Amino acid sequence: MLTEQEKLDSLTRLGIELSQINDLDILMERVLTRARQFANADAGSIYIRQDDRLHFAYSQNDTLQKKLPKGEKLIFSTFKIPIDTKSVAGYVAATGKPLNLDDVYRLEATLPYSFSKQFDEAAGYKTQSVLTIPLENSGRAILGILQIINAQDAEGTIVSFRPQDERVMYHFASVAAVALERAQMTRALILRMIRMAEMRDPRETGPHVNRVAGFAVEIYEQWALKHHVDPKTIDKTRDVLRMAAMLHDVGKVATSDLILKKPARLSIDEYEVMKQHTIQGARLFMQQQSDFDEAAGIVALNHHERWDGQGYPGHVDFRTGNPLKEYMGADGRARGKQGREIPLFGRIVALADVFDALSNKRSYKDAWDEKHIRAQIEQNAGSHFDPELVEIFFSRYEMLRSIQKRYAEENLTLS
Ligand code: C2E
Ligand code: SIN
Ligand code: SIN
Ligand code: SIN
Ligand code: FE
Ligand code: FE
Repeated sequence: MLTEQEKLDSLTRLGIELSQINDLDILMERVLTRARQFANADAGSIYIRQDDRLHFAYSQNDTLQKKLPKGEKLIFSTFKIPIDTKSVAGYVAATGKPLNLDDVYRLEATLPYSFSKQFDEAAGYKTQSVLTIPLENSGRAILGILQIINAQDAEGTIVSFRPQDERVMYHFASVAAVALERAQMTRALILRMIRMAEMRDPRETGPHVNRVAGFAVEIYEQWALKHHVDPKTIDKTRDVLRMAAMLHDVGKVATSDLILKKPARLSIDEYEVMKQHTIQGARLFMQQQSDFDEAAGIVALNHHERWDGQGYPGHVDFRTGNPLKEYMGADGRARGKQGREIPLFGRIVALADVFDALSNKRSYKDAWDEKHIRAQIEQNAGSHFDPELVEIFFSRYEMLRSIQKRYAEENLTLS
């Protein structure tokens, strides 16, 4: 337990500490840790608003954590609750008012909200005192809530949260809200960028990017399950990959219409220009402000590499487009990335992109029939494509076809 002096010190340092963290996840975990430390709370969660629901996004629980072997992480299932006055979290999000409850198992029946025992029952935990604070942006819109659970006295007995805890939690909530808003603005900016790329070539690009993103996420999820990636990481990665996959060809905004819309095969020189879209795309995300930027840069740069090393642009410095010294071949060109040298997201989007390109008409080619597409992909396992991903592709083929149908029409909305 911190002394009052230590608490004061930690509060003064907090602003500086948190302003140096760019990653949203790390920041939220830190906010929760510090908020709990301050109020000596056993557990806590941050819920983030998505449309009309609260998404249970970050959670910590010392009691449950102590039951695990050292180093192992708690796995909280992700769930969503409606923003209405029926639940504690929902009430705070719906009204913007904080709630400081002494014992959620003894709530008066006249209150609009009640406590859901589901989590306690599933986790083998006993929630008692709960302090819930809204996360509001500067315009007072609700972005989510911060909740801390089971304040403890020096003996470890559960006690109520104090009024001063409430005031300090508002400080933590405002730090979290600023970070959240920044991340959400990044996301909005990315969505605008995708629309801009679609405007360039609306007939092909809109549905194409939606389908490629859908395929990529489906393939990733199966890969991740097979590789025992934890559910929370899968959940988060799906989002990041979906955006990044939608932007795989965003570098084509730098390609001239003469080449981009040529209704025939490209000449060798034209194809060389076209290949630059990988590097152009990567450059757009060079500063790597967030997970999204990083993933989008990786996908743009690597989606035309081939498993057998015959793809492009290969081992280049994407800032200049020049081959990396260690990887320059005798012909002065960059050696293609090969096998697992190609980042997973690049390997996934390569397969998703070709599947979609073959399935649809382009200005330069007709759509292929299903039998030929399947044969092409099967034959290219281990040459163009990661064989493990091709296996996943065929095991989820019906699902991919349904995604294809869902995004068959033009001008689809982003989701
Ligand atoms: P895209 O149309 O989205 O195609 C993506 C990838 O799908 C291609 O990458 C290629 O690997 C595969 N693909 C597409 N059509 C065919 C096909 O008929 N046969 C086979 N075997 N594979 C196919 P690639 O070749 O690196 O092309 C990248 C982008 O360059 C294409 O994206 C397209 O925008 C453009 N492009 C490629 N070839 C031509 C062409 O002959 N004429 C025009 N106008 N554009 C082309
Ligand atoms: C992060 O999420 O901030 C780390 C990834 C990056 O920005 O490069
Ligand atoms: C995220 O990591 O999900 C949000 C992107 C950001 O950090 O800006
Ligand atoms: C990753 O988990 O992103 C790398 C694993 C792989 O490339 O196969
Ligand atoms: Fe491409
Ligand atoms: Fe493409």
